[in-house]
Amino acid sequence: MRCKKDAQTEIIRLLGESGGAFLSGEAVSESLGISRTAVWKQINTLRKTGFDIRAVPSKGYFLSAGKDGGSPFNAASILSGLKTETIGRNIIFLSETDSTNVRAYELARAGEAEGTAVIADSQSAGKGRLGRHWASNPGVNLYTSVILRPPVPPAAAQNLTFLAAVAVAETITAFLPMRPTVKWPNDILVDGRKVAGILMEMNSEPDRVNFVIAGVGVNLNLRTKDLPDDLKNTATSLMEKTLAPVDRVLFVRMLYINLEKWYKIYIGGGFAPVLSEWKGFFGATGTHVRVRGFNSVVEGICAGVDDDGALLVRTLSGEIVRVISGDVDTAR
Ligand code: BTN
Repeated sequence: MRCKKDAQTEIIRLLGESGGAFLSGEAVSESLGISRTAVWKQINTLRKTGFDIRAVPSKGYFLSAGKDGGSPFNAASILSGLKTETIGRNIIFLSETDSTNVRAYELARAGEAEGTAVIADSQSAGKGRLGRHWASNPGVNLYTSVILRPPVPPAAAQNLTFLAAVAVAETITAFLPMRPTVKWPNDILVDGRKVAGILMEMNSEPDRVNFVIAGVGVNLNLRTKDLPDDLKNTATSLMEKTLAPVDRVLFVRMLYINLEKWYKIYIGGGFAPVLSEWKGFFGATGTHVRVRGFNSVVEGICAGVDDDGALLVRTLSGEIVRVISGDVDTAR
């Protein structure tokens, strides 16, 4: 017998595939092998979780587009068309939380499986790199954290930073007419302004990684005018470039598909193919950079990255300095 969650997912899939056209209660009931009353009950439950499913007598049901210009943003909607094996197969969807990274970290510590994803519509304490705050307005963007359990030593976990950047940049590429760039190591920019950030947090033993939380924030439908003042000149969103809302459901599905693809490539083939793809999004080689580290500043011409992904900076004296963490300013 089909479980309730499966039936709901299947109903959303059927309604989604009909492209907004009517689907009769009879057709849904036959396809799922459940009674028409059971279909009606499941549809009522789906409505309560945010799906705008309309019913018209003698015609049937249809799924109305949500306010993102697409499907309603919730777990059932995302799962109904998600073609991954691990990433996002289990989604914890929260309308609000402090930080999806904090939630995912706690779940992973309690033994939650690899691939489980936390998504929040808004965050009250979104975390950025280097202890910064990540502005997390409701109803517009993507805030998600995925649990990974890579079979690698702790020193190699830094590779996942590049892997996530590749997956995010590739996903953004599918939604925009222009190509994004990465700012070392993993900020994603469009036309020189930040649209996405990635925060990786690790829990490890001396010789092995227990888990890594890959936290991704993407400005999808945020208006620049709604950004905090200090970000108005340095950040943007996808919608500012497309002028039409981005469907958050389609975006997050594609992100999970790309994350899974690159994770498999990494586990099977090592870091080289990931880094090679990352370099295709990296535009700073040959430009002037200033890297602020924990208690030092390195300034010079970017000479690319080495095989481990460390940033190489040629200073005024001609020396090549290898930087493994820090914040890069590209503007002079
Ligand atoms: C950065 O500083 O660029 C990294 C920002 C990462 C933000 C995301 S939003 C989802 C996840 N949860 C968090 O608290 N942070 C990350």
